[in-house]
Amino acid sequence: MMSSKFQFLAFIAAVLINGTQSANILAVFSCPSPSHLIVEISMAKVLAENGHNVTVVTSMKPHVTHKNMHIIQVDLTEEENRSMKDTMAKLTARDNSDTLSALFRMRQQFEFMFNKNRDVMKDQRVKDLYENKDNKFDLVMIGYFLNNFQIGIAQKLKVPVVLASSMFQWEIFYSTLGNPREIAYVPNIGVFGKIGSTLTFSQRVFGLISFAIQRVFTYFLEKDNAALYYELYGDDPNMPPYEEINKNVSLVLFNTHGLSEGPIRPNMPGVIEVGGIQVKEQPDPLPKDIAEFLDNATDGAILLSLGSNIQGKFLKPETVQKMFNVLSKLKQRIIWKWEDLSKTPGKSANIMYSKWLPQDDILAHPKIVLFINHAGRGGITESQYHGKPMLSLPVFGDQPANADKVVFDEFGLSMSLLTLEEKPFRDNILEILENPKYTQNVKAFSQLFRDRPMTARQTVLYWVEYVLRYHGAPHLQSPLLHMSFITANNLDIFTILFVVLIVVVFVNALILRLVYRKLTGKSKKNENTKTNKLKTN
Ligand SMILES: *[C@@H]1O[C@H](CO)[C@@H](O)[C@H](O)[C@H]1NC(C)=O
Ligand SMILES: *[C@@H]1O[C@H](CO)[C@@H](O)[C@H](O)[C@H]1NC(C)=O
Repeated sequence: MMSSKFQFLAFIAAVLINGTQSANILAVFSCPSPSHLIVEISMAKVLAENGHNVTVVTSMKPHVTHKNMHIIQVDLTEEENRSMKDTMAKLTARDNSDTLSALFRMRQQFEFMFNKNRDVMKDQRVKDLYENKDNKFDLVMIGYFLNNFQIGIAQKLKVPVVLASSMFQWEIFYSTLGNPREIAYVPNIGVFGKIGSTLTFSQRVFGLISFAIQRVFTYFLEKDNAALYYELYGDDPNMPPYEEINKNVSLVLFNTHGLSEGPIRPNMPGVIEVGGIQVKEQPDPLPKDIAEFLDNATDGAILLSLGSNIQGKFLKPETVQKMFNVLSKLKQRIIWKWEDLSKTPGKSANIMYSKWLPQDDILAHPKIVLFINHAGRGGITESQYHGKPMLSLPVFGDQPANADKVVFDEFGLSMSLLTLEEKPFRDNILEILENPKYTQNVKAFSQLFRDRPMTARQTVLYWVEYVLRYHGAPHLQSPLLHMSFITANNLDIFTILFVVLIVVVFVNALILRLVYRKLTGKSKKNENTKTNKLKTN
């Protein structure tokens, strides 16, 4: 009783000091992808923990909960669940090591996510949020993944909107942020540059091509978004045209940290970087069995987890056998995330299988010397945060590119999961364990990554409350969003200058010609008179 009273007083004090009252926040995190949801919900949790009332719309069960967080879950249908598992199984069985072709194959998955995002907005419980006048919201947060049409719900509620992005910045954010593109020195998708270095000629060529592809992709994406927007909200005459809703975003929370990860680039004030938001600043105590297993690992321990999408049973049994053969002969202890405990890859004293793992807390353990992963962004971020080197086994989507970046930064090595052989697998593990450079590099990165004026959590809280305090804080926005292509590039000024230049040149030419004619005419006359004079003389 005392403690809850005290908590209440502390809460009131915090509210008074901050000057922001507890707000009703609507978060739409409907993208059916666990890796997106975990980042987005981590942002929402910060708000809930600080006294805000957060209503979250999802299509999956979030792993994170809080008493101030109310979940409206528009479940995947059985068919959707099946089709998602099928897609994952198919993708896992293919070689997707080439980023661009992987992106192309991802189209199917994009479409699936897109359709789910639409269906969620059509659910009566979600419509009720704006149709029922008793609901009072102060701010909308949209989990951003190709779903600009969802920003419409903020217009329906007439409240400011903040985007929560588990991704890095790329072309699709241009229409909401107006951030300078600077493609000559800011590495684009598929191009890596070391922080502070310039791009080579071929990198700039590739960057330009990558930019063009993204422009085309964004063009079609925006067409689809506009169609969905009108399908959902077109019957309401008070709703602005689609193009306008992109210009109504107060800020975007990105799961990145440019100072440590790169790229170094100019950012508008509406770009808020909260990279590592899903990583706990202080690890929770580990379950007893895992803690004992790790504490007694005299030669260190390895964590092996291929994420939530690539389940063990989708892998070829030969591949699993090869992995087991190598791992069971190591002197390190292994924690292996494996779903089906009745059918494990094999028994070995140094291997512990577990269906579910507190990955972040395990990576924080000092005995962990290597993280074998599928190059999902979430896992890589956690590993980098805790300064642990990695061996990445990418499969599809953004994984090959993430793994390439790990190799580029020399935080570890990468090899294809689908073509995995025993010898290279063992060699790669031993190289990372025995060559200290990987650990040193990732530890140095970890220090830079954590060194910030405010932690990721503090940053989320500060800026969301800032938007609340200043009613959408439209002053953060780039004026570029409200300019046409012509004015944004000063084409009107250049046109006037050009016309003036043409006129000046023309007039000068005219004058010169007149002067010249006069002079030559006169001199001819003079010469004529001179010759005449000579003749008469
Ligand atoms: C919090 O939000 C829920 C809607 O999800 C609403 O029913 C509830 O009344 C809100 N609580 C407060 C204190 O505003
Ligand atoms: C969003 O639009 C409303 C009007 O509908 C406007 O008052 C507000 O300033 C806009 N916010 C931003 C960030 O542009």
